[in-house]
Amino acid sequence: MSEKSPLVIELETLQQQAQTELAALKSESELQSWKTRYLGRSATVMQIFKRLPEAAPEQRAAIGQFANQVKNTLEAGFNQMMETVRQAQLQQSLKSEQLDVTLPGRVPARGRLHIQTQVLREVCHIFNEMGFQVFRTDEVESDEYNFELLNIPAHHPSRDMWDTFYTTKEGVILRTHTSPGQVRSMRAFNPDPIRVVLPGMCYRYEQMDASHEIQFNQIEVLVVGKDITFANMKGTLVEFAKRMYGKDVRTRIRPGYFPFTEPSAEMDVECFVCGSKGCPVCKGSGWLEILGCGMVHPIVLQNGGYDPEIYSGFAAGMGVERISMLRYHVDDIRRFWENDIRFLEQF
Ligand code: DAH
Repeated sequence: MSEKSPLVIELETLQQQAQTELAALKSESELQSWKTRYLGRSATVMQIFKRLPEAAPEQRAAIGQFANQVKNTLEAGFNQMMETVRQAQLQQSLKSEQLDVTLPGRVPARGRLHIQTQVLREVCHIFNEMGFQVFRTDEVESDEYNFELLNIPAHHPSRDMWDTFYTTKEGVILRTHTSPGQVRSMRAFNPDPIRVVLPGMCYRYEQMDASHEIQFNQIEVLVVGKDITFANMKGTLVEFAKRMYGKDVRTRIRPGYFPFTEPSAEMDVECFVCGSKGCPVCKGSGWLEILGCGMVHPIVLQNGGYDPEIYSGFAAGMGVERISMLRYHVDDIRRFWENDIRFLEQF
């Protein structure tokens, strides 16, 4: 029996080592580097043929054959392992891409109307039913319409009622109330009678706190015609309060002061938090102020092109955030425009 050639022993050891390593491989890239190591051009099995002269001449053919056999065995092992790894990867990805058609669908997030848009529309709707139409004017106003034409001259102390945002352009401001729409609508409708509501955003240069915002909505009411009286105003506003706050709501009208109305008044509704007994919301008075109103001042009628000897009218203005605060018990006006979705989603 002839001695085993050292080359054969080397091949046997190599085969065993390669197979052990192969069995533990998990990925295609590991397999590829294994292949380079054991079957690449410089791998031992491939180099054996060049080293045949190291062996005895009569053993060379058999060693060559054995080297081929080792090479084929490793290649077959490689192919098989590659297949196994690919199958495993496929199974893995199928598992992760699994689709459960019985799962309930995801509800898409839908937008909604802002709470103030809803309340604005509700107030406009009530006035629509009472025969009023909506008239819109701009949020960027002139000093002339916001003040002068409303009988609030420059330097008049009554200007202190409205802290104003001025722009860099002389005479252009952000409207501090919806009242400039009074003269604008008069000039638009002249000489016809007028029955309009003017909704929209107003701006004031306020120190913000729980009851002061730099932006808020108002709705202005304006009626101009022949023989319009204070009684017409009272009847209209009381009817509005009933439709807005419930038909049994109690209201009262107190004297007030505004430069663009004469006489001027303020309207209160009974505090529905305490039932007019007196509580922190109504500051103990039992009443909540909801609007300012009055008979349109002759100067304002004249500025709108209506002869105060022939025409008369009434006007009112109310804060829309205030309506919502009372109705939904919102204790901080800043909630409305800070855009916290958790607040807005409640409505
Ligand atoms: N414009 C006033 C304000 O912002 C509210 C107001 C009061 C409007 C009396 C009116 C009115 O039309 O007649 O404070």
